Amino acid sequence: MNAASRPLIILVGTVTNTAEQVARAIEMDCADLIQPIEVHRMEGLDIRAFDRDALYVICSSTHGAGDVPQNAQTLYESLGSEPRYLGHVRYGVIALGDSIYPNTFCHGGLRFDERLADLGAVRLGEVFRHDASDGTDAVAAGVAWCRNWLAQCVKPSSIHT
Ligand SMILES: Cc1cc2nc3c(=O)[nH]c(=O)nc-3n(C[C@H](O)[C@H](O)[C@H](O)COP(=O)(O)O)c2cc1C
Repeated sequence: MNAASRPLIILVGTVTNTAEQVARAIEMDCADLIQPIEVHRMEGLDIRAFDRDALYVICSSTHGAGDVPQNAQTLYESLGSEPRYLGHVRYGVIALGDSIYPNTFCHGGLRFDERLADLGAVRLGEVFRHDASDGTDAVAAGVAWCRNWLAQCVKPSSIHT
């Protein structure tokens, strides 16, 4: 199966729902670039969420002291406690944060990125970091990033496996 016929699965880690709003907007706005697009909040998920033949986006905010959101903890921890090779996984990262926390800026998304890379998954493109203090709208910025990311990365030559 090539990129164009793979679903895009967006896994959402959120506390106050900004990340879900970003994901839902991508679901509506990017259907011309890839179909189907599925949005799944992370609660109840574990490493088996990555069993699908799909392109993945981790869309996660940061809370606590640079932690993944509470609804993301089971999935995040299972990547460490039930590790398995994820070499088939291609993914992007939308990391939401706030630069008023300079030491942990966007660490929720970055933690997922680190763990997925450790398991052999391959990130396409750079991590998109949204700063809640920079005056831009997370939803508009996330959609714009994802449209560009899909155009740049979802090419048969870059994701065909
Ligand atoms: C209690 C609290 C703690 C936070 N801690 C961090 C942090 O450590 N690092 C960071 O970059 N952002 C932090 N943030 C900012 C959020 O990640 C940011 O506002 C994000 O857009 C929220 O997305 P959400 O509504 O999907 O949860 C924190 C926000 C709150 C309310």
